[in-house]
Amino acid sequence: MSPFAPPPASGKPRVCVIGWPVAHSRSPLIHGFWLKSLGIAGSYELAAVAPTEFPDFVRALEDHGFIGANVTLPHKQTAFALCDVTLPAAERLKAVNTLWIEAGKLCGDNTDAAGFLGALDQDAPGWDAGAGTALVLGAGGAARAIVHALQSRGMTRILLVNRTLAHAAKLAADFGVPVEVVDYGDLPDAMASARVLVNTTSLGMKGQPPLAIDLAPLPPQAVVSDIVYVPLETELIKAAKARGLKTVSGIGMLLHQAVPGFERWFCIRPCVTAELCRLVEADILAAG
Ligand code: ATR
Repeated sequence: MSPFAPPPASGKPRVCVIGWPVAHSRSPLIHGFWLKSLGIAGSYELAAVAPTEFPDFVRALEDHGFIGANVTLPHKQTAFALCDVTLPAAERLKAVNTLWIEAGKLCGDNTDAAGFLGALDQDAPGWDAGAGTALVLGAGGAARAIVHALQSRGMTRILLVNRTLAHAAKLAADFGVPVEVVDYGDLPDAMASARVLVNTTSLGMKGQPPLAIDLAPLPPQAVVSDIVYVPLETELIKAAKARGLKTVSGIGMLLHQAVPGFERWFCIRPCVTAELCRLVEADILAAG
């Protein structure tokens, strides 16, 4: 029997975030803030669904009473495979984080790249003027979204540095020009040419080893972005600020990636405001 309630008689639109585990997700806080501040009678819920149950759950999303969903770890690739229709970003990344139903078809998008770009545009406007070289640390799923985002803004070179060279080589092969793999030993040279540096690894995250790199070679106009948001200010961001560089911290991507889904489900484009940012920051701080 489904653990989820059927749609209420009022027909109030319900959306959920599906993950395993999912209790840590900040999505209910973000979407709940927008629902309340925009006066929309909808709900956004947690749905803890095990991998073995995920396909059945998603195929019966409407029967469970939901008009759409976010998808988080470990389901993003499976969600992509289950969709009848996928938007270009999802096609590129072979992963879906936003689902909705249109004319009876299950549709999927991936909003991670848009979230990354939304954060950079808000916190470092003009960061992509004249394109140039970007340096990406990491070659996992998050790196794919970031490379896609940087490529979409016309960066002329995207340099990848990763612990496991083969993972970076695979990503570079999938994306082609302008992505190039750089040895860790050549990091200082790569930095010297970079106008944007992005950490997509888990290094620097609470409970993980630190990201130990010297930012000295970066040019003074470089922008430093970290997708890690626990802690709110990583050592990388602190070091970049200490050097007087422009910074974009990970919470921006978390908030901005939620915008397209909300707009899709509730037909209003919400804003990432300072008030929302403070709310989510407080929640992260309270979690310790
Ligand atoms: P995500 O989907 O969040 O990107 P992932 O696919 O597991 O997660 O990728 C994690 C990234 O962090 C990878 O680039 C990983 O490097 P490897 O490809 O060598 O595994 C990187 N990473 C994780 N722990 C690391 C560590 N201790 N040192 C260096 N890089 C690390």
